[in-house]
Amino acid sequence: MARKVFLNGDWVDYAQAVVPVEDRGLMFADGIYEVIRVYNGKVFQLGPHLDRLFMGAAELRINLHYRREELERILARTVEFNGLENGGLYLQVTRGVSPRGHAFPAASTPTVFALTHEGHGPPARPGDGRPVEGSPAITAPDNRFGLCYVKTVGLLPNVLARQQAQEAGAREAILVRDGLVTEASSSNVFAVIGGTLYTHPLANILPGITRDIVLRLAARLGIPVREIAVPIGHLRRADEVFITGTMTEVEPVVSLDGRPVADGKPGPVTLRLFEAYVGVVEDDCGRVR
Ligand code: PDD
Repeated sequence: MARKVFLNGDWVDYAQAVVPVEDRGLMFADGIYEVIRVYNGKVFQLGPHLDRLFMGAAELRINLHYRREELERILARTVEFNGLENGGLYLQVTRGVSPRGHAFPAASTPTVFALTHEGHGPPARPGDGRPVEGSPAITAPDNRFGLCYVKTVGLLPNVLARQQAQEAGAREAILVRDGLVTEASSSNVFAVIGGTLYTHPLANILPGITRDIVLRLAARLGIPVREIAVPIGHLRRADEVFITGTMTEVEPVVSLDGRPVADGKPGPVTLRLFEAYVGVVEDDCGRVR
């Protein structure tokens, strides 16, 4: 089946889904996006993703002309038209097209598009056959700007950090600012130290939807949580480290800059949270197929 892309009001074939070169998304990365999970043909956690999109649009003063219910319908149809069972939905909103000039154009209509990409199905529970894989990470300087709480398409520092990780044979780059761990190139970072779960507070990091779910699960499971920035030295000596994200889900980090995290295996708190997260996915979208 030909891939269908929603672009400014219509669904078009992928090859026809093009934007003018003076789109401010291309010129200035003047736009925002969401990556949303689809499991078993159902859109996972749509509400929080749309909340964050509207928050970002308001923050950047992008006049998003679609109402929430319209976006819900657009995304549902995009999944349907592409016959997507498992994977991701990508939604992007830019300030629109206008002759190049830094300040906002007097009038421009936002460019809105949505597309799907195939991915794996719901994660299996630990012990359900598939072992929970951990992955290596590196550390890299967090040299991003001061609006990291907005999910902007201005991702060049993230891209460079991730490339560095890939070249080092690692899965993720954990970002460090002023000696403190902030988040990672496309995920949030957690550490377990002495039974307590640590993660950066919501200050100039992306308010991850998976992060939020994990924090609520930790409260439900009676795992103590502290939302404070962890010094990189503490992360290196942590009992467990894991990353979270829409596509990443809950993923153990088993080595940092080539040295094992604790014994180099996914830890028990991570696995409990992983299992609880699978429960949330199953409650919303049904069991693993
Ligand atoms: N990234 N931090 C950063 C910098 C991110 O880019 C992301 C997500 C997260 C996790 O947020 P959430 O749990 O809401 O997905 C944290 C997406 C998936 C991406 O850019 O592909």
